[in-house]
Amino acid sequence: MINVTINADVKKGTINKNIYGHFAEHLGRCIYEGIWVGEDSHIPNTNGIRNDVMEALRNLKIPVLRWPGGCFADEYHWKEGIGPRKDRPYMINTHWGGVVENNHFGTHEFMMLCELIGAEPYICGNVGSGTIYEMQQWIEYMTFGGNSTMADLRRANGREKPWKLKYFGIGNENWGCGGNMTPEYYADLYRRYSTYVRNYGDNTVYKVACGPNVDDYNWTDVLMKKAGHLMDGLSLHYYTIPGSFWEGKGSAAEFDEGEWFITLKKALHIDELIKKHSTIMDKYDPDKRVGLIVDEWGSWYDAEPGTNPGFLFQQNTLRDALIAGISLNIFNSHCDRVQMANIAQTINVLQAIIHTEDEKMLLTPTYHIFDMYKVHQDAELLDVHVKNTMYKYGKDAIPQISISSSVDKDDKIHISMCNLDPNGELEVVCEFRGTSRTEVSGTILTATEMNAMNTFDNPNKVAPTSFDSATIVDNKLTVSLPAKSVVVLEVC
Ligand code: AHR
Repeated sequence: MINVTINADVKKGTINKNIYGHFAEHLGRCIYEGIWVGEDSHIPNTNGIRNDVMEALRNLKIPVLRWPGGCFADEYHWKEGIGPRKDRPYMINTHWGGVVENNHFGTHEFMMLCELIGAEPYICGNVGSGTIYEMQQWIEYMTFGGNSTMADLRRANGREKPWKLKYFGIGNENWGCGGNMTPEYYADLYRRYSTYVRNYGDNTVYKVACGPNVDDYNWTDVLMKKAGHLMDGLSLHYYTIPGSFWEGKGSAAEFDEGEWFITLKKALHIDELIKKHSTIMDKYDPDKRVGLIVDEWGSWYDAEPGTNPGFLFQQNTLRDALIAGISLNIFNSHCDRVQMANIAQTINVLQAIIHTEDEKMLLTPTYHIFDMYKVHQDAELLDVHVKNTMYKYGKDAIPQISISSSVDKDDKIHISMCNLDPNGELEVVCEFRGTSRTEVSGTILTATEMNAMNTFDNPNKVAPTSFDSATIVDNKLTVSLPAKSVVVLEVC
């Protein structure tokens, strides 16, 4: 039995809805086919954006969408993606499969997508191979309401009113694919480039600096010391990879309990990374003004056999649902510092929430977790104490459950619980302090096999169902949490 106490009178801050953000790069079949099919496609679309995907994204209440990369961002020249599509120059997508990028999906198409699904745009600028002038002009093109060459060009391309653009990244992974820079060099470049990212009219840009790769604590220290006062956010990238090396990361769909265990253990590791990076940020920013922006996270396995390895297409199973549930619980718990997170990537790439095949579309187990967890968006995080037991595998062990709780503006308490153990059901007994509760309802995502997945032949194999193994008696909640499951409860 696991004992939990929820202190409903101890609120630990607002869970920024942007923690439930997404990331869509010009990579494989994410943008082209996944989102953009063009106006002449046989796939039903709205101005070129496929309708089925648009509806599914809208349903998730995606708060923020990052684009155009990723590594692609530091090779992207935005002026090639505006104007009549037939006249847009072609480029080679050198990072991702060496395919031809026709630039048919550019600034106007991305902004239209955000408007259609109700998400804030988060654009990543090019520091690696772009100029300051180019970045300066992009901001002017998008957000300046007066008369200028850039604003008039935007009008000539069909958009009269400037867009609102809140989130802007100054480069991506500039320690790697974005220019192989040292932290000192990038910090200086950040100071320069960010100076020219202007606020026009009432548009105020939240500037995100390129942060560390995984556990590069020196990068965080140098960036905060040299440029912390000029940034609003610092990014962090962390991927959950079962294998020890990039070559041989492991299969997304074929794995045993050993791989299940190590994958979840590695997913839990992001808690330590956030704590350590935050501690360094606290040194320079004790008031936590600068947000930690986890703008790339999720599982990364070997590409599915028979697919283009540069397209990073992988299956998505119940294990990925657990990774999503655990990670989101961890981000919630750090809502004092983590102001945004963006799972990589929205469609057909890495830990995707949607898969498409021509006109067919399916929702992955990860999609369902975002759907179940959306109740935490902008809610108040509650103080939770867990007397956890351990899930043991071989000589190693990890906590058996991951849990997060919040209260929303209607005073509904939500509790998200993950049972990491693929073998045993758990009894969870939860006491409430500071509130009196009498009713509980819930939703569960689980399956018989660890590697259960949705396919185009069986798209609803892993889908949420209503959960009735929770009761409240005398303000005490008792839950029978099935093995390898994610449950979200609503308590009134
Ligand atoms: O998400 C795939 C790639 O992973 C991104 O382009 C890059 O930023 C990271 O290395």
